[in-house]
Order: sequence, then C-alpha cells, then structure tokens
Amino acid sequence: MKNKPQTTLIHAPRQAPQYISSIQPPVFRASTILFKDTDALFNRHWTDDYDYSYGTHGTPTTFTLGDQIAQIEGGKYCLLTPSGLSAINLVNSCFLSQGDEVWVSDNIYGPNMEHLRNLEHRYGIAVKIYNSIDADSFKPTGKAKLIWLEAAGSVTLEFPDLIRLIEKAQQANVLTALDNTWGAGLAFNAFDLNDQHLGVDMTVHALTKYPSGGGDILMGSVVTRDQKLHHQLYRMHALQGVCVSGDDAAQVQRSLASMELRYKHQSQSAIQLLNWLKLQNEFAQVLHPALSDSAGHLYWNQVCQNGHSAGLISVIFKSDYELADIRTFCDSLKLFKLGFSWGGPLSLVMLYDLKDMRQLENAHLQAGLLVRFCIGLEHPDDLIQDIENALKQLPKQHHK
Ligand SMILES: Cc1ncc(COP(=O)(O)O)c(C=O)c1O
Repeated sequence: MKNKPQTTLIHAPRQAPQYISSIQPPVFRASTILFKDTDALFNRHWTDDYDYSYGTHGTPTTFTLGDQIAQIEGGKYCLLTPSGLSAINLVNSCFLSQGDEVWVSDNIYGPNMEHLRNLEHRYGIAVKIYNSIDADSFKPTGKAKLIWLEAAGSVTLEFPDLIRLIEKAQQANVLTALDNTWGAGLAFNAFDLNDQHLGVDMTVHALTKYPSGGGDILMGSVVTRDQKLHHQLYRMHALQGVCVSGDDAAQVQRSLASMELRYKHQSQSAIQLLNWLKLQNEFAQVLHPALSDSAGHLYWNQVCQNGHSAGLISVIFKSDYELADIRTFCDSLKLFKLGFSWGGPLSLVMLYDLKDMRQLENAHLQAGLLVRFCIGLEHPDDLIQDIENALKQLPKQHHK
C-alpha cells in the first residue's frame, strides 16, 4: 500500500545500521570505507544499488536521504549533489555530446541556460528555446537529445503544458528532465502525471529550498525511474566527485519530516497574499499559476490537482515606476529580506528586469519591473502589512 506524502516523509525506507533505536538515524561521515576482506574489495561493483566502497559514492546517510527523495518524487533512484545547480550540470554533462540539440524553455532557471550556452559555445551543442505554454514551439529535429522543463518557470511562474511537451518528446525519442524544485514532489507527481502514467525521465531538485527548509544548506538531487539512465548518471556522478557530506545529508533528512506541512502552509499563505496583491493599484500584473488569468493556469489545474503551489509570487509594477522607486520599495520592507533563494522560514524579496532575461516574445507579460516574493513561515497578515507599508513609500503621483 502506498502511503500518503506526510507519512512517507517521516518513515525512511532504509534504516542505517544501528545498535540502539533513535528517531533520527546515526550519521555516517566517511571518505574511506573499510572493506571486511579482499573478497569484499574484489567482488564489489559500482552498479550495486548501494556501493559502499568510497565516500564519494555514498554512505548509509546519503543513501537514506536519496531513497526518501526518490520516493517523494515518485521515482526509484536518486543521486545527491552539492547544489541544485550541480544536479542540473550533472544531467547536462551526462547526456549532451558534440552535435546534439538541447531544448530549453525561455523561463528556465537562469544559470541552467547560462550553462547550456557555455556548452554550446565550447562543444557545438545547439541550444533551442521554446515557449513552455505553447507546445508547438518545441520542434525537435533528429539531433534533439534532451528537453528541459520547469514547472512553474523561474521568476515569471508560467506553468508549462507538461503533458503535451512530454508526449512530443517521447514521440521524438528525446529525454525529458524536469526542474522539480517548485513542485518539490508535493504539488504533482512528475513521473505519473495522468491516467496513462505519463511522466518525465528524470527530475532535478534544488534540495536547498523546501527539503532543507532552513536557508542554510545547499544540495541537489537527480531522480530517475529507469535503471539504465540511473547508471549513466551514477557513473558521471562518481567521475565528477559531486558528492555531499553526511552532516548536510542528515540535516536535510531531519527537515523532511516537516516539509509537507511547511509547503502547504507557504502555499496557503501565498494564496492569501495573492488575493490582496491583486487589489493593489501599483501592480500591472500579479503572477502565480493558481490565478485563473495566469499563463498556463489550465496546465497547473491539469496536474496540480491538490491545489498546491510553492510560496512564490511575482508582481510587475506599472511601467511608470522607475528602478529607483522599486529599490525604495524593496529597501522599505522589514519582514521580507533582500536575498536569492526560497523555501526557508524567512520571507525573501528580489527584483528583476525582464528585459535582460527572456529571449522570446512574451505577449502575456506586461512591461515593467518585476519583484518576486518568496513566502516564508511568518503570519501572512504581517507579510501583507509589511508590503502595504512599503508601497506607501512609492512616489505619491502613482498612488490610488
Ligand atoms: C528553480 C531552481 N532550480 C535550481 C536552483 C539551483 O539550486 P542551488 O541554489 O541549490 O544551486 C534554483 C536556485 O535558486 C532554482 O530556483
């Protein structure tokens, strides 16, 4: 019987060897792993599910966390990496070779695009951009190897037409990789999206966000269901040495128990803020996939059937506000702190100029400067008050 996420997050499928019983498993810190005898040394093979041969390959602590991340995301195998970005890079370096074509959505996490552009420049890998809410813009040729998906997209939060994009990729024999940081394995099951069990080949997750939950640990994961893909990734992972420390893995493991509660709380707080933000006169547009007029709302409805969303909201200020005004707004916030990332206890704010960030025409986006709010665990009433106070610092001529 498959347990509900709340239960799965607490009951690890693998327990570390231990002589006493405790709620948290013991932490293994290891570079060298001692072999019982030469038989054990010579009979080991790196494709063993749990290759206890050297710290970079994993320890009971990292395998325990990896198993749990794989389960929560609906996959089977997991590799942990030192950051979300290194997980992305692991996928790119594992599957892309000279002459290949990679498809990437215009709203993908910025450093992923930068990494791909770097590969294009150095190794002749063609980077093709598609619009995530228009599956027809994805036109793979015979050279296409991989498509990157992100649901919802970074900063502008369009929810992609996942079903159609994956169907098209499968028809064209193109590998599908989803940046699943926003959904965190809780908003939807990336490996089982519809009645036909359509799903991606692999997910990448910045565990730095919700799984860590503290704003203090960097980590990433790559989850697959297919053993062959996993072995390809595992080999590259070992060659690159992109491993994580036992202490960091144990910290993330400890936070997992509360992840669904935190995620739901931040999701609900975001909805409360959203309803208030929509009524404010200073904004030309409020962006969040749960809004019925948002780009990709239908696709969000299709796969996020429990109504969950990450606690991220973006607003585009009316175009008569200048950068200096938006800076004043951000500097006037007291509870929202200025900083990158999300998924932690503290609410964060960041400002962006979309002009520098998109390569395609984005007719659904208004012109203007964008501010992204990452909702933390504070009371939503206090967060609304904080934004209301900061809006009052904007120039008078623009006020209601
Ligand atoms: C959608 C998304 N993917 C990946 C990452 C990278 O994660 P990390 O900061 O752990 O490298 C981020 C970080 O902001 C992100 O927002």
